Amino acid sequence: MKVLVTYYSQTGNTEKVARAIYEAVTAQKEMKPVAQAAAAGYDLVFCGFPVQAHSVPGKMAEFVKGLPKGQKTAFFATHGSLRGGQLPRQAFESAAGLAAHLKVLGQFGCRGKVDQKVIDALMKKPEHKAWAEEALGAVGNPDAADLRDAAEFAQAMVGKAY
Ligand SMILES: Cc1cc2nc3c(=O)[nH]c(=O)nc-3n(C[C@H](O)[C@H](O)[C@H](O)COP(=O)(O)O)c2cc1C
Repeated sequence: MKVLVTYYSQTGNTEKVARAIYEAVTAQKEMKPVAQAAAAGYDLVFCGFPVQAHSVPGKMAEFVKGLPKGQKTAFFATHGSLRGGQLPRQAFESAAGLAAHLKVLGQFGCRGKVDQKVIDALMKKPEHKAWAEEALGAVGNPDAADLRDAAEFAQAMVGKAY
């Protein structure tokens, strides 16, 4: 079993989750930023991204679209909004929309802190207000519990991929 953990991360939150996933995987494995990752040659690919404007950032969206047909894939994301709520769900729906040609095994999301200046600026824009308000509470995330959950998710996905 050959596993790739690839991620896009602007401020390090998604990279932390990627590392927790990578460390939990017991198989032949690689961890690479999406800009350096190859799309072929893996049994399982974890794709991680920060939710941006309720969706998947372009760099990760392009990578997902380029994965080979039938590729076993698992998504993970960090987001300022509340875990399990409607706002991050929209981003996972966008990810699923890009992945119709893939075999998606599961998804994991947790909160990631957002710079206060970013929150202040985006709160003024109607399309960002809802998540930016929720993001005020994400100051310590991802935290140790998030990273433990990410590790559990990783193990479950590897189990499913066999
Ligand atoms: C331009 C921008 C747009 C964002 N849009 C959303 C959003 O729609 N929903 C949300 O929950 N968080 C949103 N966030 C917050 C990020 O998803 C969150 O801080 C994430 O953990 C950043 O991950 P990173 O450190 O890996 O870049 C946004 C952040 C930025 C900078």
